Amino acid sequence: LYNAALESRTKAYAPYSKFHVGCAMLLEDGQIIVANNQENAAYPSGLCAERSAIFWAASNFPHVAIKKIFVIGGAEENPASTPIPPCGACRQSILEYESKQNKNIELFFTSVEGEIIKTQSVRDLLPFSFDASYL
Ligand code: THU
Repeated sequence: LYNAALESRTKAYAPYSKFHVGCAMLLEDGQIIVANNQENAAYPSGLCAERSAIFWAASNFPHVAIKKIFVIGGAEENPASTPIPPCGACRQSILEYESKQNKNIELFFTSVEGEIIKTQSVRDLLPFSFDASYL
């Protein structure tokens, strides 16, 4: 999964931030879904790697649970070696599908090299989260 995320990161379209992120997700049927960040001249129209991946998987395999997500981020040149955590919007989006499938998603994040951080659930990164139970 690390290698898949690393490879997908090389295909990121990030001409504005020059910050490249790759995401690989392992589904419960064994297939691996990859995506990367896609930017836009109208900046907010771009999308992070994690949401590109999870929306694609949910669109095409809505009944296949996601087991693991691996995220690798870093500046195009000289990426830092500190782990790059998913942004808040991506955490919220991952939480939606974790709740929907009612099974935890293991989340790993890192930079191109260095320490890898693993969490058992996106809830570890999003305490006091808002979800459908409040609606
Ligand atoms: N980015 C991601 O793809 N995932 C994250 O979790 C953090 C940020 C992207 C969005 C944008 O294209 C670039 O990194 C800089 O913010």
